[in-house]
Amino acid sequence: MRAVIVGNSDGIGLALTRRLLADGWTVTGLSRSPAPVGSHHVVDVTSPEFSTVLAEVGEVDLCVYAAGVGESLGENLAGQTRALEVNLLGAARTFEAVVPRMLAAGRGHLIGLSSLADTMISAQAPGYAASKAGLTSYLLGLDAALRPRGVPATAVRFGFVDTKMAKSPVTPFKISTDRAADVLIRCIRTRPAIVSYPRRMAAVTGTLGPLLRTAARLRRSRSDAP
Ligand SMILES: NC(=O)c1ccc[n+]([C@@H]2O[C@H](COP(=O)([O-])OP(=O)(O)OC[C@H]3O[C@@H](n4cnc5c(N)ncnc54)[C@H](OP(=O)(O)O)[C@@H]3O)[C@@H](O)[C@H]2O)c1
Repeated sequence: MRAVIVGNSDGIGLALTRRLLADGWTVTGLSRSPAPVGSHHVVDVTSPEFSTVLAEVGEVDLCVYAAGVGESLGENLAGQTRALEVNLLGAARTFEAVVPRMLAAGRGHLIGLSSLADTMISAQAPGYAASKAGLTSYLLGLDAALRPRGVPATAVRFGFVDTKMAKSPVTPFKISTDRAADVLIRCIRTRPAIVSYPRRMAAVTGTLGPLLRTAARLRRSRSDAP
């Protein structure tokens, strides 16, 4: 079995690469710095060469989009734009390249690493939250369209995973990259449309998301008041 993992030089993508290689998969990775295992192409998902490099990987049974960045809001919005480009448009370009080949073969599986932040309105990292909202929605739409044709898509919504991305000083229910790889291996076997993990964190964000939206509405209506 052949897999391509975009964003596998570190973190969750690297842990999954190691696990798939141990299970006998052939894995090709893509990221800006080299991955220590498997075959790999050094490329930025936002560069014009990305689609060409991805096309060279050829036919795969599994495509995992694990590339991601998250930056706090600063004085300018460049970091937020970058999050949207890497986390959402990079995923869209990846699926655009691999899906036609999967459909022609009548089989394949797309997995995107979204986040439990996909229901949040975030004043700290609005680009990150928006990119994940878009990614989850896109994956669910692709799944509805492509699953009947043999190509399911899975949106994986993690809470905090112990990587350099989990920068927040408070990281409740944080899991290891090995645990995240376990969850992904189960997804590869069972091919669900959506997975939220850990469930306790999903329950917290499921409650927090609507509360934050209500708070934002209240703030808006107060500032609209004469
Ligand atoms: N860690 C968490 O708490 C958490 C929670 C929920 C969801 N997620 C999501 O899980 C995914 C993986 O995150 P992680 O925690 O494993 O982070 P990570 O350790 O920082 O890994 C991110 C990966 O993305 C690659 N990447 C970043 N920008 C790239 C670009 N422009 N082009 C190509 N590759 C790029 C990085 O490689 P290079 O730097 O070498 O390019 C690295 O391999 C992300 O989408 C993240 O949003 C993470």
